[in-house]
Amino acid sequence: MNTIYYFTGTGNSLQIAQDIAEGLGDTKLIPVSDYKGELIQGETVGIIYPVYDWGIPLIIERFLKQAKIKSNAYLYAVTNFNGAPGKALIQCKEILEIRKIKLSAGFLIQMPGNYIPMYGAKSLERQQKLFTQEKKKVKEIIEKVKERKELKLEKKYPLLTKILFHKFYKQVANFPTNDKNFVLSEDCSGCGLCSKVCSVHNIEMINGKPNWQHHCEMCLGCLQYCPKRAIEYGTKSINRERYHNPNVKRVFE
Ligand SMILES: Cc1cc2nc3c(=O)[nH]c(=O)nc-3n(C[C@H](O)[C@H](O)[C@H](O)COP(=O)(O)O)c2cc1C
Ligand code: SF4
Ligand code: SF4
Repeated sequence: MNTIYYFTGTGNSLQIAQDIAEGLGDTKLIPVSDYKGELIQGETVGIIYPVYDWGIPLIIERFLKQAKIKSNAYLYAVTNFNGAPGKALIQCKEILEIRKIKLSAGFLIQMPGNYIPMYGAKSLERQQKLFTQEKKKVKEIIEKVKERKELKLEKKYPLLTKILFHKFYKQVANFPTNDKNFVLSEDCSGCGLCSKVCSVHNIEMINGKPNWQHHCEMCLGCLQYCPKRAIEYGTKSINRERYHNPNVKRVFE
């Protein structure tokens, strides 16, 4: 049996997790938000997550600091990103190393970007190109995981990113309360989908409207999936194309 823990905002990490699971066979897919401190079962254990500000999401940091993993399990990480993965795999290895847990391999996959405060969705053509590359890369990953290969982490960490890393990544500490920047428009129908999208239960529906509870991971799922485009990130997302992965069906859809 194999196990994959994943965190996703807009479905890219879930697509990768599902594709790897299909290729490996006999694989349990578990959202990281469901982890409660139990001993993780599985001959191979994968951790799959997006890059946030050149580093790991806070929920992944918490997971890595407490996950109980059997010493004979083959452990690997797959991180996906828009253009600059920075230190996201290195951080994963470093946190595990402190706990004397070996990360045997770390893989990078480029996927369509979802950071709407900076840019809108890529063209469908570009998205398709990235999905085709993803399939190819996943095949390679599956072979390596099956063979339990001990590999160097894949890297795309140029000197300038290294120099600026701490300055950029420290913004992630503000993510939990950055949900105060979400603005709701009158177009909200009160459907509650945003609340169901949120894997960390950060959205309470009060009087039929979403209220953000300030323990946000900034995954942008609520904004990107809203069928009415009723959520904006301040003024930065206005008139920008929304994105969520078209190849996976999330449980709330
Ligand atoms: C808060 C936030 C920060 C991000 N920072 C980066 C980054 O530093 N570098 C990058 O290449 N992509 C960055 N992205 C883009 C995501 O890593 C990328 O779109 C990923 O595939 C999303 O995965 P998901 O659909 O599983 O949530 C960021 C996205 C978010 C929401
Ligand atoms: S998903 Fe959009 S329309 Fe539905 S409740 Fe949330 S903000 Fe309102
Ligand atoms: S509130 Fe929105 S951005 Fe924050 S974690 Fe939940 S779905 Fe993601």
